[in-house]
Amino acid sequence: MPRPIQTAIWSRQAQWLLSQSRRRLGPMFTLEIAYEGKWVIVSDPELVKEIFRGDPKVFHAGEGNEILRPLLGPNSVLVLDEAPHMSQRKLLLPPFHGKRMEGYESTMREIAVREIDSWPNGVPWQLRPRMQAMTLDIIIETVFGVHGGARLGDLRAALRDFLDLLTNPRMIVPLLAIGPSRIRLYPPFRRRTDRVAALIGAEIAERRAAADLEERDDILSLLVAARHEDGSPMSDAEIHDELLTLLVAGHETTATALSWAVERLVRHPDKLERLRAEVEAGEDAYLTATIQETLRLRPVISIVIRRLTEAIELGGYHLPAGVSVVPAIHLIHRDPTIYPEPDAFRPERFLDDPPGTYTWIPFGGGVRRCLGASFAQQEMAIVLRELVSRRMIRPADPAPERNFRRAITETPRHNAEVVLS
Ligand code: HEM
Repeated sequence: MPRPIQTAIWSRQAQWLLSQSRRRLGPMFTLEIAYEGKWVIVSDPELVKEIFRGDPKVFHAGEGNEILRPLLGPNSVLVLDEAPHMSQRKLLLPPFHGKRMEGYESTMREIAVREIDSWPNGVPWQLRPRMQAMTLDIIIETVFGVHGGARLGDLRAALRDFLDLLTNPRMIVPLLAIGPSRIRLYPPFRRRTDRVAALIGAEIAERRAAADLEERDDILSLLVAARHEDGSPMSDAEIHDELLTLLVAGHETTATALSWAVERLVRHPDKLERLRAEVEAGEDAYLTATIQETLRLRPVISIVIRRLTEAIELGGYHLPAGVSVVPAIHLIHRDPTIYPEPDAFRPERFLDDPPGTYTWIPFGGGVRRCLGASFAQQEMAIVLRELVSRRMIRPADPAPERNFRRAITETPRHNAEVVLS
């Protein structure tokens, strides 16, 4: 197919294009998407292992994520490679480690309970926007460390406005017309990023001056206190870009995963009841398996990208420098030789067999694996636990919701519409 047609299909029906191409062309094939160069799609876990364990000097994820640079800034961990990437990643890792994560639990629970208790009974109710409100508040409190007051309101409104523009399907028009690298020329985009930058700048300045920095456990405070290996602090520009990265990478993704979890559960009342019973008995195993199965069957992101800086051999092919190798999360998760009845929603499959490192990859892998994977799974567990123990839920319409692509995420077409009681 000509590149514009592949691009058009990819932008609306990415998972369909992957599955159809897999069926017709085998486990390894090429796609050509505008502004992206050649993508060699890979769906064999052994080859994915080679890619994730490959030399980060050869497999450039930052270059593969180039499209995000104008959005997140040049210091974002997502768009860097090699030493600069490792240096930012090391600064960002400590806030996501065990003890710190426990500290975020009560904030996550309070926000979840407040939100869930405000939802109406007996009317069709779209969960995705409410999950977004919840995950946004969780990020504002745990990452930015802003609790209550007018500043919370301002930040919430500016971030919401900015994120809504990014995930608006109509953004594809200016993106294709002027190209991702010049998207700042598009006035609605520039206005929003400038507003967000001003608010984040004010938070950074305030935090640098805070007398209680040592006692604070939000991620912004940890980054202000963090030091590079040479002892220098992070610059304002670095902190700005990383905060925006955590927001963009962690907000929509988690809200969408939560929406899919409910979308699947309400169409499997037996599973929903089992989950409720186990949660009420204080058991977490089925909850964890439900989250894993949701992320398998409805991965929020369908692919990850590594651009090659030199030629490699992969799966019997010679791949030149400059092309990207692209592990297809969606295809691996639907492989019947790994997951019998791959289209069925069966959390039970993960009760005895924990997910494999290269066969369950909703968070990517290797030195680029999602920094927020534990954060997201903890957040999902808390929200689902509160939801099933506080409310009865049924689908607004018995038909399953299909995928709807927003920017790079795959969301439920009707936003996980349910009726609560
Ligand atoms: C269900 C929710 C989430 C999903 C499905 C998800 C998925 C992903 C994926 C697929 C990648 C690319 C990995 C690769 O290239 O191998 C990634 C990277 C990343 N994610 Fe997440 N993510 C989620 C939540 C979060 C959260 C909550 C945060 C932070 C608050 C976060 C922060 C990041 C960061 C910083 C990276 C870049 C890591 C690097 O390049 O070194 N993510 N995520």
